[in-house]
Amino acid sequence: MVGMNAPNDPFPASEFDDWAGTYDNSIAIDQFPFYGYLKVLAKIVAAAKPHPGNSVLDLGTGTGNLAILFATLGCELWCTDFSAPMLEQARQKLPAAHFVLHDLRCSWPAELDRPYDCIVSAYVFHHFKLDEKIRILGDLLPRLTSSGRFVIGDIAFPDAAAREKVKIATGSEWDEEFYWLADEAISAVEKLGVKVEFTQVSICAGIFCIVGATH
Ligand SMILES: C[S@@+](CC[C@H](N)C(=O)[O-])C[C@H]1O[C@@H](n2cnc3c(N)ncnc32)[C@H](O)[C@@H]1O
Repeated sequence: MVGMNAPNDPFPASEFDDWAGTYDNSIAIDQFPFYGYLKVLAKIVAAAKPHPGNSVLDLGTGTGNLAILFATLGCELWCTDFSAPMLEQARQKLPAAHFVLHDLRCSWPAELDRPYDCIVSAYVFHHFKLDEKIRILGDLLPRLTSSGRFVIGDIAFPDAAAREKVKIATGSEWDEEFYWLADEAISAVEKLGVKVEFTQVSICAGIFCIVGATH
């Protein structure tokens, strides 16, 4: 069983509920895992190439720090998260956005069933194993418009050797989670019939820009 309140869930919503009130303090400290946080968000926006009026879906929006950058550019936002307190923080920053409480590991909710010009996400997919990441991407890619872009910024390393170096340098601050390894992820994602470009942004974060193979 997966989803909200499943037994033995390594990443239950309750962990994030407790973090919602102080999350914006955490990201303000330039240390693992948030080295270069603001730069990562800015690179996601640049890679998504949004236009005013575009529909943007932000997966795992948290307190809305990524969504607000798109809203400022005149985009219409749909924001998901499985933590109600996180969504409440985001709602205060983005009163005009659409918010849906949803666990990405569960089936897609009817209220989000529409096409999107951009699908974006920051610091969320490392909670999922690679096969689950691919399953979620496979479900969501058909929801992009024909020229749409899917951009993920997250804790990511070019390969296992790079991850190991940062793990050693990080010491006790390191958490064992499902961080992206770009070499294995790119080939797995491209099996979905898309092109993937990876850019390392900080020592522990990178951007995956995913577009249809015919772009
Ligand atoms: C590290 S925070 C990132 C928040 C925000 N995207 C940002 O960049 O600041 C991870 C967010 O993902 C959400 N999340 C984690 N697992 C999720 C899941 N299975 N389904 C939906 N949201 C999830 C958490 O509730 C949290 O808000």
